[in-house]
Amino acid sequence: MQLFIDSANRDEIRTVAGLGIIAGVTTNPSLLAKEDPTTPVEKIIAEIHQIVGGHISVEVVSTDTDGMIREAEEILSWLPEATIKIPMIPAGLAAVARLSQQEIPTNVTLVFSPVQALAAANAGATYVSVFLGRLDDAGHDGIGVLEDVAEIWDVQGIETQIIAASVRHPMHIVRAAKAGAHIATVPYKVLMQSLKHPLTDAGLEAFLRDAAKRQVQTVTV
Ligand code: E4P
Repeated sequence: MQLFIDSANRDEIRTVAGLGIIAGVTTNPSLLAKEDPTTPVEKIIAEIHQIVGGHISVEVVSTDTDGMIREAEEILSWLPEATIKIPMIPAGLAAVARLSQQEIPTNVTLVFSPVQALAAANAGATYVSVFLGRLDDAGHDGIGVLEDVAEIWDVQGIETQIIAASVRHPMHIVRAAKAGAHIATVPYKVLMQSLKHPLTDAGLEAFLRDAAKRQVQTVTV
């Protein structure tokens, strides 16, 4: 399972990209709204793409099919490598169908049920983003929904890539990988938290302490 970072913050993205663990970036209007309002979105996106170079999802904000297509064209005019992120609404499915005819990659976002995921795949989506954390918040079982999607994908031989999105904690990453998601898109804080383990820190501290003793002995012998 590949890891993407779910962020529009260039410092966060630069730090994680430097670790060599991410293959792409997903953004959304709420993440972009947290960034400097005087920097145009296309500049932020271009800089992110320069830092990571792999997948980058950029979301449209129109709610009608023609508006989404116009926005997709605009996004692609400044970043031809972009994947167009489209909300899971009927007008969005129609936009996905039109974009997929032109072989433009799409990421259908705000997917909360297996049937929505199936519909998006049938429309020709390249990716479907299943929102784990928001399902959990609403009293549903996010991982359960993801498992159902992955099982349908297996049985039906569907090629659309499954993205585990709205990831809130390290166990979401583990369970998404076990369920068969192709990608987990993870916020910076959760990514960094996932890399840490108290036994790693304690073990390293002991190794360094022992290495220092040995150096002292070598000097005193
Ligand atoms: C997916 O691509 C979305 O950007 C994202 O995962 C939303 O997650 P949230 O529920 O943390 O806002």
